[in-house]
Amino acid sequence: MPLTQRSTLTQFLIEERRRFPSASGDFNALILDVAIACKAIARAVALGALGGVLGNHAEDEGGSVNVQGETQKKLDVLSNKVFIRRTEWAGNLAGMASEEMELPYQIAAQYPRGKYLLVFDPLDGSSNIDVNVSVGSIFSVLRAPQAVIDAGRDVTEADFLQSGSMQVAAGYALYGPTTMLVITVGDGVNGFTLDPNLGEFMLTHPQIRIPPDTQEFAINVSNSRFWQAPVKRYVDECLAGKTGPRGKDFNMRWIASMVAEAHRILMRGGIFMYPRDTKDAAKSGRLRLLYEANPVGMIVEQAGGRASTGEVPVLGVQPSALHQRIGLVFGSKNEVERIERYHAEPARSDTDNPLFFERSLFRN
Ligand code: F6P
Repeated sequence: MPLTQRSTLTQFLIEERRRFPSASGDFNALILDVAIACKAIARAVALGALGGVLGNHAEDEGGSVNVQGETQKKLDVLSNKVFIRRTEWAGNLAGMASEEMELPYQIAAQYPRGKYLLVFDPLDGSSNIDVNVSVGSIFSVLRAPQAVIDAGRDVTEADFLQSGSMQVAAGYALYGPTTMLVITVGDGVNGFTLDPNLGEFMLTHPQIRIPPDTQEFAINVSNSRFWQAPVKRYVDECLAGKTGPRGKDFNMRWIASMVAEAHRILMRGGIFMYPRDTKDAAKSGRLRLLYEANPVGMIVEQAGGRASTGEVPVLGVQPSALHQRIGLVFGSKNEVERIERYHAEPARSDTDNPLFFERSLFRN
């Protein structure tokens, strides 16, 4: 299809909005501002060393760490600022929260306040920045509680503690060989590619669907000694391939940018696992619920896949803290359900009789 026949993101959003004649347009304006932020970050990422943006933030002063205790990269800090600057002015937001800010962000006093909350990870996979591997931004849109809107008051942490099922929209931008924006407004998932000539996101991947089955998994195997038994069983069975209980060979990938793994899974299926493990008893998982697991969870489920803590659907989890971590398993539906099944089954011991294992003599 020639480029001229494709929808732009703006056209797509306006056509979506026509389905809701009473919509004010605030939501569309917000998404378009987020898209501008993503374009600006894409440019900064693409310039790399030429833009002087690689390396750690505040290197001269020994570096800085975010609320997660992770060293902040220059691009983490820059991307966070870009998100704020591009979205706070328009009167669509009541407040924001980000991986890079310990507390909720209050809209600057000179701007009007709106009815949405924006929650984001401005640059996911930032360990990949300095090695020129794909990174991305992830965002989630929630409604501000009515009391916040009515009083026009400052937002508090509690205002953001809404389960993933309450999200109005979610999306990510992927800064890879091409820049893409993938969004859901609760009516399927659509992918847009940034046309560098026009500076516009063009609809290139309408109604993305994740195949229910897969032969590709992604997990950081260096953590295997800390995994729970059901995860270990699942991966062992994948590794056993054709001659194992699954009866088929599996391939493995690990990019270490969740947003890039999510995109691969949306494009061709697969399963991603960063399960809760015993590596650090103080951490209830690696990934963050509000700005990583929930938005990716909504996108995956809207594309026909499944997103889970390994035991229960992630979108049903009631958050208890802004920067809460959680175990996350998502991707092709039948594989995610298999892991949930393994978690639900009574624990098996290594001495269990193999004759009773799956696909063995006594099981069908
Ligand atoms: O922010 C989390 C993240 O960067 C994800 O994008 C990625 O999946 C994960 O961390 C990588 O973790 P690890 O360093 O254990 O491979």
